[in-house]
Amino acid sequence: MAIERTFSMIKPDATKRNLTGAITKVFEDNGLRIVASKRVWMSKREAEGFYAVHKERPFFGELVEGMTSGPTIVQVLEGENAILKNREIMGATNPAQAAEGTIRKQFALSIGENSVHGSDAPETAAEEIAYWFSATEIVG
Ligand code: CMP
Repeated sequence: MAIERTFSMIKPDATKRNLTGAITKVFEDNGLRIVASKRVWMSKREAEGFYAVHKERPFFGELVEGMTSGPTIVQVLEGENAILKNREIMGATNPAQAAEGTIRKQFALSIGENSVHGSDAPETAAEEIAYWFSATEIVG
């Protein structure tokens, strides 16, 4: 297995409920290292750009509204098989379908307020990391 990096966000629904530490601990307890982290309050333009792939979807407006409603923690996670591992740790997008023990099962409120985002493939991980971080901000 290879050491990979993936992009992660702790979304506003979670930061508003003071869950930054609790969610970060789940990553660390599962062997992922936080090699970059910052707290941002994203603009409408940043949220629309980040989620541009979803711009034709009916939930796009709600998604952008939620992501600009409070602070987000953007992070780079590093570890063995980090991309797939993080998706397993997060659980299904819809918390109603998330497995026991996953972050979304434990903390998410709804599909729109699902507490975390994680990259789904190596290409998107590279794009999403570069969207929020310069190379010098990532310290392994
Ligand atoms: P995320 O992994 O950040 O990727 C896109 C987000 O869109 C997703 O998590 C959800 O928060 C949101 N999303 C996906 N489907 C719906 C939906 N049907 N209604 C509202 N939000 C959705």
